[in-house]
Amino acid sequence: MSFRKSLVRLSGVLSVAVAVQAQKHYATPNTYIIQDSYDASNFFDEFEFFNGPDPTAGFVQYVDAVTANSTGLAGYANNGVYLGVDYQTTNPPAGRASVRLTTKKSYTHGLIIADIAHQPGPACGSWPAFWTFGPSWPHSGEIDIIEGVNLQTNTSITLHTAPGCSFSEDSFSHGDCGAPGDGTMGCGGPTHNTQNFGAGFNEIGGGVYALQWTSDAIRIFFFPRSSGIPTDIEEGNPNPSNWGMPAASFSGGGCNIDANFMNHNIVFDTTFCGQWAGRVWGADPVCSTKAPTCEEYVGSNPTDFQDSYWLINYVKVFREAGAKRGIAKRFDA
Ligand SMILES: *[C@@H]1O[C@H](CO)[C@@H](O)[C@H](O)[C@H]1NC(C)=O
Ligand SMILES: *[C@@H]1O[C@H](CO)[C@@H](O)[C@H](O)[C@H]1NC(C)=O
Repeated sequence: MSFRKSLVRLSGVLSVAVAVQAQKHYATPNTYIIQDSYDASNFFDEFEFFNGPDPTAGFVQYVDAVTANSTGLAGYANNGVYLGVDYQTTNPPAGRASVRLTTKKSYTHGLIIADIAHQPGPACGSWPAFWTFGPSWPHSGEIDIIEGVNLQTNTSITLHTAPGCSFSEDSFSHGDCGAPGDGTMGCGGPTHNTQNFGAGFNEIGGGVYALQWTSDAIRIFFFPRSSGIPTDIEEGNPNPSNWGMPAASFSGGGCNIDANFMNHNIVFDTTFCGQWAGRVWGADPVCSTKAPTCEEYVGSNPTDFQDSYWLINYVKVFREAGAKRGIAKRFDA
């Protein structure tokens, strides 16, 4: 209490110095407390089925919980959560049936850890994603953790924001996350790892993705199951300072993270064609030879999508220890 009072009385210059120190301290919080755990015991109670028209204009029909259950598109399997697509119907008129699930809860900051056993494999026309986003897109930001289309072999990690967010330190091309003026392109790009996506991921039994989100940085880590998942994660006490290099990191001046990223829901989906897989169809050297349009291919080749499923062991959300009571908070009192 007296510490807090004395801080308030400090001169302006000194307060700024203390604030910068406090920020540095918060740049790498290493103690996290479990907030929510989603797995085969509760997943479908805590994630909602989105069954409106695909916001990315895909050739897809997202189904509701009852339909997903009765048609076997979603359910608990192998002690995990299965999220698949219709791989039986030929030429479904309204698009191929699939699921898109979103957490009921939303999050700002923290650590989101997902243990995934299988992702949708490579298939012309498919566009799977594991991502987070906030309200009034793009004003609350979007973080794409696992995403790719068609026969791509590496995940693309991308951030989308309103104009005015360009990190000075990022793992890619230092792009404008609000590009090209509306956030539809964003910043980021393909990672240099074929074990983190599609076939390469599935061959090694998958692995663990972690998103660390603070006021100072957004980092995404990937741990292949074959080469070991950090013990601190397996023990439920994740400590990012033990983890080595992230797969992608966004930090540094030029983007106020807290002003551009907030209240994110977590999403898993698999869509087809639309604004990415469909848009690049003609430029894909393999897929474009199979059918003149993405929709035609996806419609007429159901069995190609048998492997287009997610098998999720768990998603856990942690918050920074002391985040609600930290020094940084004392300055906005
Ligand atoms: C559908 O729900 C029932 C009742 O909860 C459950 O027993 C069944 O396994 C579910 N089907 C699938 C495909 O998960
Ligand atoms: C995917 O990762 C591999 C292996 O590191 C790399 O050689 C390749 O260039 C990456 N692909 C892209 C599109 O960056």
